[in-house]
Amino acid sequence: MRDMAVIPQELLAWYDRHARVLSWRTPPGGTGADPYRVWLSEVMLQQTTVAAVKSYFERFTTLWPTVHDLAAAEDAQVMAEWAGLGYYARARNLVACARTVAQLGAFPDTREGLAALPGIGAYTSAAIAAIAFDRPETVVDGNVERVVARLFAVETPLPAAKPELTALAARLTPQARPGDFAQAMMDLGATICTPRSPACGICPIIPHCQARAQGIAAELPRKAPKKAKPQRRGTVWIGLTEDAVLVETRPDKGLLGGTLAFPSTGWDGSDLPPPAPADWQELGLVRHVFTHFALDLTVATGRLTATPQRGNLVPLGRFDPSALPGLMRKAWVLAQNPFPATARDNAPPWQTPATRDR
Ligand code: ADE
Repeated sequence: MRDMAVIPQELLAWYDRHARVLSWRTPPGGTGADPYRVWLSEVMLQQTTVAAVKSYFERFTTLWPTVHDLAAAEDAQVMAEWAGLGYYARARNLVACARTVAQLGAFPDTREGLAALPGIGAYTSAAIAAIAFDRPETVVDGNVERVVARLFAVETPLPAAKPELTALAARLTPQARPGDFAQAMMDLGATICTPRSPACGICPIIPHCQARAQGIAAELPRKAPKKAKPQRRGTVWIGLTEDAVLVETRPDKGLLGGTLAFPSTGWDGSDLPPPAPADWQELGLVRHVFTHFALDLTVATGRLTATPQRGNLVPLGRFDPSALPGLMRKAWVLAQNPFPATARDNAPPWQTPATRDR
């Protein structure tokens, strides 16, 4: 623990030369990051990779260049633009947060003020306070946990190790350039101190790494064994007429809340009937792994033979599958291009359309 202060100094010197160029960032050493762009990027980056976020960030900031523009947007348009990014509660909170900030006039500039806004938790409030407002807050995401666990050879398994890792990260956080420091830790974790084969040979802080000294860097952080996720099953119905498709907006509360969807059974064993009489035919399965369970949905399509009891018929010319969340998009693709029944029954498992996450 001697010389703790040199670690952030050496890491920042590395960041000055090697920071990833990402459009929500200002260059290292800079000031004046736009809190709106920082907030939007941090919300998008929760549970989501940089690679997946990039195009969504460009699209959102082109459509809505300021928080006031986003506050004035229609909920349904924001949900449609978020489609495919996953964790849809983020999109609902995004609009609520933009509206609160627009009313306040500007983003609060402290962690506490930020944490009072919709959808902004401990991680995001610290990240925005550090990156946009230069507050010396400690920002701990999965990358930072891994870097800290290795640096200090913390052998406690996650998630129990979280408080210990946060306390160590706090001791590292410098008063100067805390936002750059947080992003330097993230970049180190994403590009060098990677989960499987860390590139210790080019690590800028290797002399300080206790796990490396003990030869256990790649083994850390240790993780408590994961519980197997329960498997749930359901059916999704893609009902068609001559020129329209049956869709609904899912209830705000619950899974894929507020998204555009095809009617389905409940996914918790609750059984809803098909939304309309039709010559329903089962086409195959789509899969999705949610945080607390895995889901297999049987996709059925059919021509409606009577007025539907749920949902809205949208003319096919106005139906935009890109507004669907990933799971429903997979169901739509399967309905466009079904395996012939006999081929499907004999198809090897890798030909069964499946989706994990977005
Ligand atoms: N992940 C979360 N926030 C990030 C950021 N600001 N830069 C890179 N990766 C991130």
